[in-house]
Amino acid sequence: MFTATGISESELRERGRKVIRRAGKQVLLLAVGNRQFAIANRCPHEGYPLSEGTEGPGCVLTCNWHNWKFDLSTGAALVGRDPVRTYPVELRAGEIFVDLRDPPAEQQKKRALEGLSAAIADNDLARMGREVARLERAGFDAHLAVTHAVCVQNERLEFGTTHAHAAAADWLALAERAPSDAARLAAMIEPIAHLAWDTVGAKTFPYAEVVKAWDADALLAAIEAENESDAIAHVRGALQDGIPIAEIGRTLGRAALTHYADFGHSAIYTLKTRQLIERLGPQSAEQVLLALVRSLTNATREERLPEFRTYDKARAAWNAGQISPVSAEDFIGLSVDAALDRVLQSAGQEPRELYDALLGAAAWNMLHFDTAFDCATDNQIADNVSWLDFTHALTFANASRHICETDPDLWPNALLQLALFVGRNKSYVNAQQDVAAYRVTDRTGFISNEMDQLFDHGIVEPIIACHRIKMLFALKDELAAEPDATWADMMCAAMNRYLYTPQKRHHGLRLATQAQDFIAREG
Ligand code: FES
Repeated sequence: MFTATGISESELRERGRKVIRRAGKQVLLLAVGNRQFAIANRCPHEGYPLSEGTEGPGCVLTCNWHNWKFDLSTGAALVGRDPVRTYPVELRAGEIFVDLRDPPAEQQKKRALEGLSAAIADNDLARMGREVARLERAGFDAHLAVTHAVCVQNERLEFGTTHAHAAAADWLALAERAPSDAARLAAMIEPIAHLAWDTVGAKTFPYAEVVKAWDADALLAAIEAENESDAIAHVRGALQDGIPIAEIGRTLGRAALTHYADFGHSAIYTLKTRQLIERLGPQSAEQVLLALVRSLTNATREERLPEFRTYDKARAAWNAGQISPVSAEDFIGLSVDAALDRVLQSAGQEPRELYDALLGAAAWNMLHFDTAFDCATDNQIADNVSWLDFTHALTFANASRHICETDPDLWPNALLQLALFVGRNKSYVNAQQDVAAYRVTDRTGFISNEMDQLFDHGIVEPIIACHRIKMLFALKDELAAEPDATWADMMCAAMNRYLYTPQKRHHGLRLATQAQDFIAREG
């Protein structure tokens, strides 16, 4: 339905432009030659008035604030990003009428999602925010935007799942406790922005278009053989056959714990994939699972590295007849080999007892991380250690516990791999430092408060923010599973120290030193 503007064609021609206000909108009317245009007066970039803009040849209007240029006929941004809204104009007996009705919701959705794709491709965070806000204003849930981002970026992930997926479910959970609409939107944008960050400049790596009947053992064998195409085929087949996501996820969890895969990331990704599909719904399942399968088939089997090589021997020596009681103190200060041996001595104990002991030792390690290693400039590459080497012990423990609760026969793998974290990190701690100030007296209040900080974390790198949220949700989940755990105080204090200790995020001098050293030895 067209609305009278109260201005005639001749008056507009004389004035050149005029802003009218109708139904909460500011509409800019322009006369260019013998044509009339109506566009939104707020520039889609930062909202400054286009009525102050400059007309150029060819019915182009330039916003004077940052020089975006708009085609008045279509609204397209000839320079800049988002198009400006245009309104149909009609002349009735010399009077100007405009149609201010919103386009159909589906049309708005299409525009917002296309804009979101463009924003992701440009790694343009501000536009990602605008497009998700446009989607919501059109009546759609922002989860749709996250699903869209996951799907459109999937083929750009050369090695499949990244931390962007791993933290996505937690960001979506955080959004549910947002104190305002803006905070909720901020949380919803995080996984989209992280995916964009992770795919900057990435080429396309299509997934194999093959399908094989669901066969859990064949899927495990394909992943073991690092045969991505075959593994993809079985997952596609599983989805076509209607196999429940939980069953597919269970098999992938088994694959993840078969090796000390990607320093425990495979187990973390498996849990988080399942949580992400639960939050986004089944329409996301195929793409999210394909990414996970790709990451599992490409995962480094860390037990092949010299420092973890005794893992296979320990796994083979697992003997449930060994029933020595165990506590966290038994693991503190042990090397990888000694930690594996110590696990074997208690292999017959309840898995939970060993789990608590190992998690307690991991918490002690994190609380006592010697940050001099994080700042070092003259160390060997093997000693490039950061907070993230310590944080993964908790997120891996959380993921492996969930996997083992479904498949208890995997506990030996999970516990021995947790011992690898504990043994490896013991070389990078300072037991003498005073950590009393990090004690947490109100665990629930601490976690809740730290989660609230994430709505406005102020951290540039998604990888850093995503570890904070993953850690907080993992800690909350572990405490919910065992509120009086022996490690609870230690892990809360460790988390407190981790969250409030600056991290060195650029190692220019270290990189240069290591590069020179490497090239000198290269021959
Ligand atoms: S506000 Fe118009 S170009 Fe920036």
